[in-house]
Order: sequence, then C-alpha cells, then structure tokens
Amino acid sequence: MAAQRGEFRSRLGFILAAAGSAVGLGNIWGFPTQAASNGGGAFLFTYLVLAFALAYPALMAELLIGRHTHRNMSQALGALPQHAGLKRIGMLTGIGGLVTASLILSFYGIVAGWMLGFASSYPLEAIGFTQSAEWLITFSTPRNLTLTGIFMALTMSVVVGGVEDGIERWSRRLMPILIATLVVLSLYVLTLDGAMTGLSIYLRPDFSKILSGDLLIDALGSAFFSLSLGVGTMLIYGSYLSDNEHVPSVGAQVALLDVGIAVLAGFLILPAMYVADARGVAIFNAAGGLLSEDTLIFSVLPALFSTMDTIGLWLATAFFILMSIAALTSSISMLEVPVAYLIERHGLSRHRATLIAGCSIAAFSGLIALNFERLFGLVITISTRYGQPLLGIVVCLFAGWLWHRDALLAELKKNDTAADQRWFWKIWPLYVKWICPIIIGVILVRSIL
Ligand code: TRP
Repeated sequence: MAAQRGEFRSRLGFILAAAGSAVGLGNIWGFPTQAASNGGGAFLFTYLVLAFALAYPALMAELLIGRHTHRNMSQALGALPQHAGLKRIGMLTGIGGLVTASLILSFYGIVAGWMLGFASSYPLEAIGFTQSAEWLITFSTPRNLTLTGIFMALTMSVVVGGVEDGIERWSRRLMPILIATLVVLSLYVLTLDGAMTGLSIYLRPDFSKILSGDLLIDALGSAFFSLSLGVGTMLIYGSYLSDNEHVPSVGAQVALLDVGIAVLAGFLILPAMYVADARGVAIFNAAGGLLSEDTLIFSVLPALFSTMDTIGLWLATAFFILMSIAALTSSISMLEVPVAYLIERHGLSRHRATLIAGCSIAAFSGLIALNFERLFGLVITISTRYGQPLLGIVVCLFAGWLWHRDALLAELKKNDTAADQRWFWKIWPLYVKWICPIIIGVILVRSIL
C-alpha cells in the first residue's frame, strides 16, 4: 500500500478532471452527427434522459466505490465483499479494467496522434514547410508511430506529476481552453452562409426517429463510452475525491458537463458541415447519411478550412488543438488506471509506474500501427464493445449486491447527515442492483449477436 495517496485539492479541480476524462474525441466526432441523423432535438432530449437515467447511476457506482475504498479498481472491488471467492472475482475484474483501459488508450493514442499531426501541419504549411506539413496529415506507418509516441509521452508527462500537480493542474488549465475554443469556433462558424441550415437540422425534433429500439441502445452505448465507464477511470478519480464532497451532486455536474459539451460541439460541427456543403464540399455518404467520425474530422472539415484562406488556417489550428486537448485530458485518465494499480498494489514509485505502464501501452500502440488493418478495428471492438459493458455490469453488481446497505449509507452520510431522506438513497440502490445490469446486459448481448 502506498504511504500517501493523492487527493484532488478542490471540487472544481475534480469536476474538471473527471469531465476532462469524459469529454474526448467521442463527444466531438460522434455525437453531433449521430444526433443530426437521428431525430435532432428529439435525440438530444432522449440522450439527456438516458444519460441521467442509466449512465449516471453507473457513474455513481464507480465514483462511490472509489471514494469509499480510496483504492484502485482491483483493490476496491476486492474490498467490498466478505466472501473470499467473491473478493478474488473483484480483484480480477479490476485487473480486467486496467487491461481494458490500456487497450482503449493504445488505439486512442493513435487517433490522438493524428490530431497533433493536423494541429501542427497548418502552422508549418503557413511558414513554408510544405513537405513536413503534408507528411503530418498523410496516413503512413512512420507518421503514425512518431505522432503516437509523442502523444503518449505527453500523457506520461502529465500523469507522472501525480493527482494534484499532474492531473488536476493540467485539467484546470486545459478544460477552460477547450470550452472557450469550442464557443469561439461555434460563434464564428454560425455567422457563415449555410450555418443556419446545419443548426436547424441539428435541433429540429423528429420524434419518429428516436422510438426505434436500436437507436436507443446505440445511444446508451455511446453514453457509456462518453462517460468513461466500466474500466475504473471514474473509480480511480473518485478514490482521489475528498470525504467532504457530496458525491451524488459532483457526479451529476460531471455528467452534465459531458453532455453539455457534446451538445455544444453540435453547434460547431453541424453548422460547419452545412457551410462546407454550401461551398461544394461533399458532406453526405453514398447512402445519403451525414459523413461522420474520421471522415468528418480528417477530410470534410479540412476541405472546409481550405476554402477559407488565412482565417481557415487559424480555424483549423484552433480546431485540432481543441481535439488534441480533448484527447489528452481523456488519455491521462486512462493511463492513471494501470499506474495507480502498480503504485498501490506493487509499491512502485509513481515515476516507475508511469514509465512502465506508459511504455508498455505505447509499445502496444506501435504494434497496432504496424498491423493497422488487422488490429486497429479489432482492439476497438474488444475493448469498447465487449470489455467495457462486461466490466460495467460487474461494477454495478458489486455496488448493488455486495456492498452492504449500512456501509453504503454510512458512505453517503459522510457529508450529508440526511442522506437517508434523499431521493438518491431511495432510488439509486435499486437501480444499480437491477436496472443497470439488465440494460447493460441487453446492450452487450445485442452487440455480440
Ligand atoms: N470518454 C472519453 C471520450 O469520450 C474516452 C475515455 C476516457 C474512455 N477514459 C475512458 C472511454 C475509459 C472508455 C473508458 O472520448
């Protein structure tokens, strides 16, 4: 056991760090187009309801277990049950969490490297380094290896600073920049021709689209990825939260910020796409749907920026810096999962733990980059479609079934003597016991079939 554990210095520091984990590439490259293609305002509304009715309780399970045990996922889940066999299952689940978090980071680091490449290519191009600029935005194994290495080094340089001086400090610096950049970019784009069409398509509610069961299940899956659930990132952040904080409300603020920033990203992405459309850039795929994900980020938006001269250069640079920041505040939360385990379970110093975990994950990213066609999609599927929901179910089951009611109430009463009078206490235990495992189970089974 480590002699001294880190602890977030302030509530705001925690909220920004946890929201930084939650707000990532997923929010910006997935959510807006998904919303626009699936009922606009009606989808936003449904997503908000789902996020609070189902993802929030799962988030609370992680935060509360973390805060209660002040341990990493493996030791935390090992500490909840009395029975030795169940303790072992808990510890193994925690190890599954750290492996899954590392797998997610190994592909996330590659995509994040592309963001760094695009962010630096525009300024380089402007000062005449055309060839390097071109290299940075053209798919190649050497480029992928280099940029992923740089991104992983950045991630490690934050995590090595620890909770207060690394994660909290950088989240406090970067998150306001991210939000301000997003607001400024959207306000600018909204003044351009075509933007209002995009905005109305984003917001126009079409309730007939959202009633489809598949869509609801997909939306829930994205809410899960978006809130960084299942693998112990939120658990470890919760474990660094002071006993004076009221977890149900800080958790709600984190969830609100995550959804809020996803919605805000829609005010940038959809108008930008229709501005691009007005300038002759293709924004629809062959099936007539909006282009999304990597095509959206790496071809539609760059094509739009290139129609804009100097201002396009600034916009593009700001946009890709925004994406790089979103990726970095998420990647540090993923790396913290194995690092905390190595420190607390194996007594390593933070320096060593960061170096070992970071380099191993970077090496695995390298392996993916070298076998891109074969491994990239596979690692995403294994870690996010199967790993995350499976682990999420176990976390909910542990919180709902193996955490003694009195101990749970005592945890909630740490900073709220009337906790037993609250709605949270009346509803949440039943939710994590029954509803969360069943719904996540349905998502999982559906994605396997
Ligand atoms: N939530 C982040 C995003 O939207 C990614 C992320 C960070 C994540 N930590 C995670 C996803 C843990 C799954 C598990 O991009």
